[in-house]
Amino acid sequence: MKIIVAGDYQEMSRIAANIIAEEIKKKPDLVLGLATGSTPLGTYRELVRMYKEGKLDFSRVITFNLDEYYGLSPDDKRSYHYYMYRNFFDHVNVRPENIHIPDGTARDVEEECLRYDEEIKKCGGIDLQLLGIGVNGHIGFNEPGDELLTATHLTDLAPDTLAANARFFGSIDEVPRKAITVGLGTIIQAKKILLLASGPEKAAIMAELLDDDAVSTRVPASFLLLHRDVTVVMDKDAAAKKR
Ligand code: F6R
Repeated sequence: MKIIVAGDYQEMSRIAANIIAEEIKKKPDLVLGLATGSTPLGTYRELVRMYKEGKLDFSRVITFNLDEYYGLSPDDKRSYHYYMYRNFFDHVNVRPENIHIPDGTARDVEEECLRYDEEIKKCGGIDLQLLGIGVNGHIGFNEPGDELLTATHLTDLAPDTLAANARFFGSIDEVPRKAITVGLGTIIQAKKILLLASGPEKAAIMAELLDDDAVSTRVPASFLLLHRDVTVVMDKDAAAKKR
């Protein structure tokens, strides 16, 4: 694992955007796995800036988002569809047909999960996967448990996740209880992984992940320790408890 500690959130975002930009320059038809949440917002801002300055072209990039809340329609302001268009896709030239986000309103969820994995396979798998991390160590919405699933699936969100994401919904009761997420197999098979962490609330999990050097289904992100090409970029606050 390559670990970069940035001075602050801005610097973390700039470093992350530069890593993504370099990969797109090397492979213009990059298959890019994308995350939502607070952490990558600055990275998306930087990527949009690079595009607007004519330094980056997304016209051949293919994207796959990690997850979507179950039951939220794409035009729901709290959905990850809405988030992605508002913060990224509306401002860059990713072709609509190259954008993939799980459909949280699919009638047949199992079918939707199979379809999503098929699409990823058809594109040759993920080249670069951008990840955030939950306070409980989740990646995507692969929550801690006795077992972790490899394929895209419908999952129950953990109490920690409901509490952490309540800020986007007004109250914890409004947070959908379930989400569709790509599985750990899809994430771990990405050729390259970029994990971002920011803020003091991530310090404990980052210390556990990076200092313990152990793999456990109780810390889903720990499976990243088995991957040969992971770059962690975190700000000082997230790195504060690391030995
Ligand atoms: C989002 C996702 C989640 C988040 C994680 C951290 O698509 O898959 O794993 O990355 O919950 O969220 P923030 O960045 O809001 O702290």
